[in-house]
Amino acid sequence: MSTSPQQPQQTTPLAAIVLCAGQGTRMKSALPKILHPLLGRPMGSYPLTRALETGATRAVAVTGHGAEQVERALTDALANRVVDSGDGLRFVRQEQQLGTAHAVLCAQPALADFTGDIFILYGDVPLVSAQTLRALIDAKAAAQSPVALVTTRPSDPTGYGRIVRDAVSGAMTRIVEHKDATEDELGIGEINAGLYLVSSDFLWRSLGRVDRRNAQNELYLTDLIQLAFEQSTPAATVRAEFEEVGGVNDRVELTRATTTLQRRINERHQRAGVTIELPDTVLIDESVELAADVTIGPNVRLVGGTRIERGAHIGQGCVIVDSIVGEAVEVKPYSVFEEAIVGEAAIVGPFARLRPGTELGAKVHIGNFVETKKARVGVGSKANHLSYLGDCDIGAGVNVGAGTITCNYDGVNKHRTVLGDGVFVGSDSQFVAPVTVGNGAYIGAGSTITEDVPEESLALSRGRQIVKEGYRSKRQNQKKRG
Ligand code: UD1
Ligand code: MG
Repeated sequence: MSTSPQQPQQTTPLAAIVLCAGQGTRMKSALPKILHPLLGRPMGSYPLTRALETGATRAVAVTGHGAEQVERALTDALANRVVDSGDGLRFVRQEQQLGTAHAVLCAQPALADFTGDIFILYGDVPLVSAQTLRALIDAKAAAQSPVALVTTRPSDPTGYGRIVRDAVSGAMTRIVEHKDATEDELGIGEINAGLYLVSSDFLWRSLGRVDRRNAQNELYLTDLIQLAFEQSTPAATVRAEFEEVGGVNDRVELTRATTTLQRRINERHQRAGVTIELPDTVLIDESVELAADVTIGPNVRLVGGTRIERGAHIGQGCVIVDSIVGEAVEVKPYSVFEEAIVGEAAIVGPFARLRPGTELGAKVHIGNFVETKKARVGVGSKANHLSYLGDCDIGAGVNVGAGTITCNYDGVNKHRTVLGDGVFVGSDSQFVAPVTVGNGAYIGAGSTITEDVPEESLALSRGRQIVKEGYRSKRQNQKKRG
């Protein structure tokens, strides 16, 4: 980027229009292009988020193809994520896709009472940074132009609108779309990224003058550039790397964008003190929070509202969704968490599955092939092997033996199992809920517990062992005789 990224003294009110109505034919998908996810969030939600972060107080998304689905998904993606869109997000419909200028015209009624500068962003240019949007504000103000836009130089400009400049002054005179370009114009390497900041009065005045006389018979937003040149001041430009502002039109470009975003997010965490052992294999959603001195092993995926506190170690192949992992927790390889809370210095895994509503206290140990759901486990308790702990309250210092099962479901309702502090559960026990075991009680191995157990007692519910001595020889004698 050639322009200073510093926050300007912003006094002009800001709004944003994000174009999301196109079908995205080249994606060859039943899903509207704008909803294809980039690290878990629909691609169209990224430019919206960036505009709101940059200070737009109102945002209008123009929808068309799959409008209802698109509106629902964008609303969900923006709720409680990264920035608060407040009442700022509105949708307008573009029933027929007659071009990018037509799409912007559809947003006019929603911004009729707005005077200021309007970002116009394309929903299929997802990786634009807030820094580049701020640079647009600076460039527009410095040039005192009615429009500023982002340009870039891809290695292959095929398909993009080319930036035509005056040979002498270097001022931008117009944009020519690929399909309308002459041989000479196709040789231009500088292209339009599809990210603009436009004065509202110039925008609405000029859009009425755009016509459909072009190869695609569409209303091109890019015609604004020539109108600015002719009527007032040439457009101001901000140069960005193609990696940041390239469009996503097919699935190869989608993967490229995912990889770029992945690298950007991982590097942000690395610079903030997180060790990521093999970053190319690790996918961390933009919304995830990581404290310093967290270590992330290979092939880890961290999703949604996950937060990981200082010094925690996430082993190879773990998937952690919407969970909180406390300080100095050790998560061993191939564990899967969903909506779980893990207390500090707990040790979980390998191969543990923590399902929604799991709350582990400090220093809890959950070992291999243990599944928990709506399970509260107190400080220092251990369930190290092969268990299902569902709908249960387990006190502090409890030892849950291998193969313990809470039978929480009677075919109709779910019931809770309560184990008091210091309970010792022998291996291969079942708790037929609802059932409560008092503090300090013992459960003999192999028991099926159907009734409450008082504190400090021993409960046993297995058949007595019978031993028949000399059985083998008696049996062999019987055979001979027979
Ligand atoms: C557009 C630009 C081109 C630029 C490129 C950058 C125009 C005329 N061309 O071309 O100069 O280099 O983006 O990526 O603007 N959309 C609507 N309604 C419509 C048409 C499009 O909402 O009627 C939306 C699409 O969903 C998409 C965005 O606008 O998000 C851009 O449309 P697309 O068809 O991808 O334009 P490009 O051919 O990429
Ligand atoms: Mg495009």
